[in-house]
Amino acid sequence: PDTYTKNPDGSIAIGGISLQDLAREFGTPLYILDYASIVRRMQHYRDALQSMRPAGRAAYAGKAFLCRAMVEVVQQQGLMLDVVSGGELFTALKAGFPAEQIIFHGNVKTDEELELGLTAGVGQFVVDSLSELERLDRLARRFSRQAPVLLRITPGIDAHTHDFIRTGHFDSKFGFGLADDIADQAMELALASEHVTTNGFHAHIGSQILETDPFVANAEALLRFSRRWHERAGFWPRVLDIGGGIGVRYDETDTPPVLDVIVQRVERALEALTPPDLEPPQVIMEPGRSIVAEAGATLYTVEAEKTVAGGKMYVAVDGGMGDNIRPALYQARYGAEVDGKRDDAPDCVATLAGRYCESGDILIEGASLKRPQVGDLVAVWATGAYNYSMASTYNRVPRPAVVAVYEGTADLWVERETWEDVMRLDKPLKFAQRRVN
Ligand code: LLP
Repeated sequence: PDTYTKNPDGSIAIGGISLQDLAREFGTPLYILDYASIVRRMQHYRDALQSMRPAGRAAYAGKAFLCRAMVEVVQQQGLMLDVVSGGELFTALKAGFPAEQIIFHGNVKTDEELELGLTAGVGQFVVDSLSELERLDRLARRFSRQAPVLLRITPGIDAHTHDFIRTGHFDSKFGFGLADDIADQAMELALASEHVTTNGFHAHIGSQILETDPFVANAEALLRFSRRWHERAGFWPRVLDIGGGIGVRYDETDTPPVLDVIVQRVERALEALTPPDLEPPQVIMEPGRSIVAEAGATLYTVEAEKTVAGGKMYVAVDGGMGDNIRPALYQARYGAEVDGKRDDAPDCVATLAGRYCESGDILIEGASLKRPQVGDLVAVWATGAYNYSMASTYNRVPRPAVVAVYEGTADLWVERETWEDVMRLDKPLKFAQRRVN
């Protein structure tokens, strides 16, 4: 987090509050969000895009982290919001977010979800299949609406990232591929659908991308497709949504691309590829990770320590894969620090293990740490994105609280789950048969 400070005695504070105080007040494990870093990053996106001609917009991708308070921050900062499910849409609407500022994504949207989107009046539906296009047209007719649509295009750009989070390549489950004629078919159908208004195109090429070129190539691919449809049917997009995916620094080996450079190069592509008599489309970007990842940290208590055969040292904490599935799922790397250790305290290399009953529940393999003791606090850095949002109650371990911090004040955004909460939806057994046939 940007507002991280460390005192000579080794005690760490974020947003002007010590980790000790946060642990005492809210318990551990605890997700901590540095409010100032979130707001600064939102402002950076907003201003960078606004400086484009025509002015672009940023839509925060809620899948990275969403709760009521976060929706309110997005609204305060004047960003749009990208949602991918009825649940995210419901959260946004309940928190008072203006529907017309919402972009509704997802390769599956059920009738119930589409209806909620249509009746609330969401700003754009990003359509992912021909069947969805038909369904949306039919539902919009039933509710006497026009459905505003962006077609999701798969440009065939292979950004270097983990296999599981690549989305722009041709055999992806997402979007209409430019490699065959499916994108053209979608366009034909969209233009022929009476209750669909086609506003433009969308393409997201992947996540945690550490290069600049793929973002520019993506915009160029969408512009070339647009030109083709301008020649063919006189269609020219009002909106080009180039998705999210800008990488962050999980450790010192990551060097993220520079937003302003991406924006400038995309603007140049717009100028070069927009036909002379037309307005360039408005560019939308959908950052998730790069808004929240580095603003977050997870605070744990060391509960056990052991050195096993071969001398490997394990430090086990009171959380793990239930609150951060990313190391197990993507071999994601994180950095950590033990609270309250002076610079001259002894170092160690330890494996930071979680509490879940599974050998793969390892948060960090071979972490360089000040040697911790049972009861010490450990912070794992850059956990603001895809941690809380992907959390589970595996092993019936309740999910941690989320607290935002700013200038010495803590703001509880999500309460800690309790054992009662974990049982809340359970029903007692009705079957009485002890023996079955
Ligand atoms: N827009 C679309 C259409 C997306 O699919 C995504 C992410 C984003 C925007 C936001 O991308 P970001 O700026 O956060 O990279 N669970 C994985 C990440 C999955 C990302 C899926 N789509 C992880 O933990 O790394």
